[in-house]
Amino acid sequence: MRYVWLDCDPGHDDATAILLAVHCPNVTLLGISTVHGNASAENTNNNAARCLYAFAAQEHIRVCPGARKPLIRVERHDPEIHGIDGLGGVEGLPPATNPAVQARLVGDGMPTRALEGMAKAISATWQNGRGSKVTVVSSGPMTNIALFVSVYPDLLDGIEEFVFMGGGVGMGNRSAAAEFNILCDPEATQIVLDVPVKKIMVPINVTHTAIVTKAVLTQLLAPGSAPISIDQPLPKAASPLRYMLSTLIGFFADSYKSSFGFVDGPPLHDALTIAYVEKPELFTCKRHRVDVELAGTHTAGETVVDVFNYRTVDDSWGRDGKNCLVAEKLDVDGFFELFLDCIARCDKV
Ligand code: BDR
Ligand code: CA
Repeated sequence: MRYVWLDCDPGHDDATAILLAVHCPNVTLLGISTVHGNASAENTNNNAARCLYAFAAQEHIRVCPGARKPLIRVERHDPEIHGIDGLGGVEGLPPATNPAVQARLVGDGMPTRALEGMAKAISATWQNGRGSKVTVVSSGPMTNIALFVSVYPDLLDGIEEFVFMGGGVGMGNRSAAAEFNILCDPEATQIVLDVPVKKIMVPINVTHTAIVTKAVLTQLLAPGSAPISIDQPLPKAASPLRYMLSTLIGFFADSYKSSFGFVDGPPLHDALTIAYVEKPELFTCKRHRVDVELAGTHTAGETVVDVFNYRTVDDSWGRDGKNCLVAEKLDVDGFFELFLDCIARCDKV
């Protein structure tokens, strides 16, 4: 069993990461923290709670609000991709004012802030070595994680690994060089990359292969239905959950088509982090030295991946300079099989 803390900024694809975190059979989700990013921290926090409720997560799983701003940079959001509130166009999600959603946000004796929530979950699970380590997953800007490792260095031993969606190898999506999550808080990412804990980066080179095609969408709406041609209409949704997810994918598909010219469907970036935790065998990865460009005139926020080993000096691990496992390739069919299985499990609750 893998114990997971998820730090996120929902966000359409973050919502799919939450779905997987709740329904992957080998993942126990301990809690969620939220961060500024795709929308304001207030919106991403509400959205995480709305998702936990909609995906029938166990009631003790709570959402802890985190950083409203990057460490030193000016906050940025992405309404062009995710709408103003972060989950634009999604139908069938309860509003944040719904009492059942509110119940995910606060509770008797529950921690109310991200760092405290993470610390409590890791201490309680790790139990100073008598228990299990926790995998910390990040699907948004890394402000909370950077603060956490700075404030609670004594809890690093309780962390199995950091798995983060972000960066690119030689490519960006919110500047010519930088990917959105890293661009939002480059300094925070560098702090996390410098921490002596195993790290896995899932960059856009790989997430761009996880496209929700019409064939996948057909199975999402009506599992087991016959393949349809490109001009045939999609089947009717077999459940309210499936309908809601199809509106989520539909909005995301439109964003990706108009902003990036993706014609076959949107990429489910963030869901790949939890897929990695559940089934690392779906990924081909290689260790590299990764740093973040913090000063570049044209390249701030770029992940500089040393694929030819120019920087071979020892780092604080006492090993070679390679500080990060970088995902290079995804078993796309295997990933969507897992995704559709999780939807089926959620549908049964
Ligand atoms: C990342 O940025 C956001 O748009 C997504 O939620 C994802 O985490 C992709 O660059
Ligand atoms: Ca995200």
